Amino acid sequence: MISAVQKVVIPAAGLGTRFLPATKAVPKELLPIVDVPTIQYIVEEAVRGGVKDVIVVNGRGKVAIEDHFDIAFELETTLQSRGRTDLTEKLRAISEMARVVSLRQKQPLGLGHAVLCAASVVGPNPFGVILGDDLIDAEVPAIQQLITAYGRYGKGVIALMEVPPSEASRYGIAAGTPIDERTLQIDRIIEKPPAGTAPSNLAVIGRYVLPPSVFEILRNVPPGVGGEIQLTDALAVLARTEGLVGHRFEGKRYDAGDRMGYLKANLAYALKRPELRDGLLEFMRELLREGV
Ligand code: G1P
Repeated sequence: MISAVQKVVIPAAGLGTRFLPATKAVPKELLPIVDVPTIQYIVEEAVRGGVKDVIVVNGRGKVAIEDHFDIAFELETTLQSRGRTDLTEKLRAISEMARVVSLRQKQPLGLGHAVLCAASVVGPNPFGVILGDDLIDAEVPAIQQLITAYGRYGKGVIALMEVPPSEASRYGIAAGTPIDERTLQIDRIIEKPPAGTAPSNLAVIGRYVLPPSVFEILRNVPPGVGGEIQLTDALAVLARTEGLVGHRFEGKRYDAGDRMGYLKANLAYALKRPELRDGLLEFMRELLREGV
């Protein structure tokens, strides 16, 4: 069966201020987890979830993202002449895994605005959104879990995860009425609620499946938190009109947009590599012994 969702939007226009100076000349989406840029994990998630059309909304200084998904002819030819077919195949697979379209968000007006920039390329069908800061390690790709929920309920779907109350003000927070074990009908959703005002402990994590009608809402929604056009504010309108469901996804999430989360992701992903695991564990034990 062909999925109703055939396109995924990846907003990638952020300045990466939390990773300066690393992100002065390198887009934060290309910072690696071990040896794979974070955005490659995101594109792989879309592809594993059955979506091959990927729309990257980037900004100035981000052309290297396009290059990463292009054919690196000179590099491949050089590697080939050195007999490194293993590497040429690896590189070729990256350029062939998805159809990547890039477009620009010309002004940093917020996540909602970034998604709106993709409207004409998305067209009249439901689409996915994946935020590169949220890495989700899951057997069934998180975006696929949402696509399945969309197929079941026929309404926009957002990914939800429980967070400690002290962290609620860093996220979009949603509350609603349960409709099955993992899914709820959203009654309230608010972006970055001030401390002590969150309507629940369920945070919106960067995966969405949305109907195209959200674009018209985004065109009309006033600037919200931080003076930016917030996707969450448009979702609040969607929840009141067409309805919106939240899905508590299965999988382990890493906040790769935060230095601590980024380091944790590097460690966790490295420990999954047989060629790195033992050496890394040994080094960690050594550090602990030395009391570093
Ligand atoms: C964005 C969304 C927020 C969501 C978060 C998840 O915030 O606006 O609703 O909870 O991603 O990572 P940002 O992290 O860009 O401030």
